[in-house]
Amino acid sequence: MPDQTPITFPQGFTWGVATSSYQIEGAVNEDGRGVSIWDTFSHTPGKTYQGHHADIAADHYHRWREDLDLMVSLGLKAYRFSIAWPRIQPDGVGPANPAGLDFYDRLVDALLEKGIEPFPTLYHWDLPQALQDKGGWPNRETAVHFGEYARLVAKKLGDRVNYWITHNEPWVMAFAGHFAGEHAPGIQDPLAAGATVHHLLLSHGYAVESLRANSRPGAQIGITLNLSVMHPATDSDEDRAAAWRYDGIGNRLFLDPVFKGQYPADVMAMLGPMFPQMQPDDMRIIAAPLDFIGVNYYSRSVVRHDPNFPFIEASTIHPEGNEYSQMWEIYPEGIYELLMRVWKDYQPKKILVTENGICVPDGIDFDGRVRDYRRIAYLRDHIAQVGRAIGDGAPVDGYLVWSLLDNFEWAHGYRMRFGLVYVDFDTCQRTMKDSGRWYAKVIRQNGLS
Ligand code: FCB
Repeated sequence: MPDQTPITFPQGFTWGVATSSYQIEGAVNEDGRGVSIWDTFSHTPGKTYQGHHADIAADHYHRWREDLDLMVSLGLKAYRFSIAWPRIQPDGVGPANPAGLDFYDRLVDALLEKGIEPFPTLYHWDLPQALQDKGGWPNRETAVHFGEYARLVAKKLGDRVNYWITHNEPWVMAFAGHFAGEHAPGIQDPLAAGATVHHLLLSHGYAVESLRANSRPGAQIGITLNLSVMHPATDSDEDRAAAWRYDGIGNRLFLDPVFKGQYPADVMAMLGPMFPQMQPDDMRIIAAPLDFIGVNYYSRSVVRHDPNFPFIEASTIHPEGNEYSQMWEIYPEGIYELLMRVWKDYQPKKILVTENGICVPDGIDFDGRVRDYRRIAYLRDHIAQVGRAIGDGAPVDGYLVWSLLDNFEWAHGYRMRFGLVYVDFDTCQRTMKDSGRWYAKVIRQNGLS
């Protein structure tokens, strides 16, 4: 049963949605865009569900005005999108490609005109392939290039953008991309994963410097992390220790350097040999003061001791009797626990939920409607828990649903639908789902009625 308590959010609360460039834009060969690692990966046989790729995706590059109209009809206060590095620097280095910058320039202007705050993310996993060919994130130079890319973007948009996000979910890039090999660039090498963690964080620090130097006064800068709560499968000491190790790699490995300027000692005791040589200034650069932290939350992890897994000696289980989506357990209390924990342990000035959402099978009914009631229940229960965290003092300033549109869900292709708006991937036609109409009401009422 969904929670039915009415909750009013603080005035000016930032209600929004999020998307990312490769997942929605398409137009991969237009206006001078270079090739990204996700183009290469998705076109490599066997890497994605039924060989799906995002050459067209939701065709947002051509239909962005229609998508803006959808955002207006939702009454959004904020739109988080990502900038495709290969549109700005096709080879990852050198001067900016004016046509690439213009696309985002027009988008930012149009959003502002409609009173929707743009939240650009500089990197949502689409590294220029040319940089991958020179070693990618395991190569320290890539971090330096990212700082320069951030400067080029900020020089163009910095006079109007009030909120910047450097990276999206560096954990996923590092571990899904370089350890498990399930995401681009498809590498399975612990050393590459460790180097990627450090260089992504370093590049974040460089980007903060570039953004501060080229943004309007008062512009706010943050990073988005995929964080979770890690619960032990049983009360045994072994499972509890395993959950703490999971927490180390999933949460503290990123939160500690960004907020405390150091890697957690217990994680380094486990993963230290995976990490590259660090330079004396690295931790200072990584811990550059931030204005907010972006938290992506989807589910919790239930962890047990499991010696079959190298390094971490832990794995996750799916407890019986709980509700699941197509990808994860549904666990709304986790977002409350997480927000409180991030606030108490790290004291960020501000927290934004930069992604939260669910994929459940949905489709167009006989009368043209999409009755995605499970998505409504999920969002309602999670929003209620966000409200509870705010009530208990956590400085949460915004909540963004993943996602505006059904889109290319990485290795799962188009099979997983997260949108408030249904996309027919044959025609790219959009249909507002019931959850979209419901969310518009939440925004109008500034909370849950
Ligand atoms: C997050 C990603 C986003 C989307 C959602 C479902 O990990 O940031 O691009 O794939 O999960």
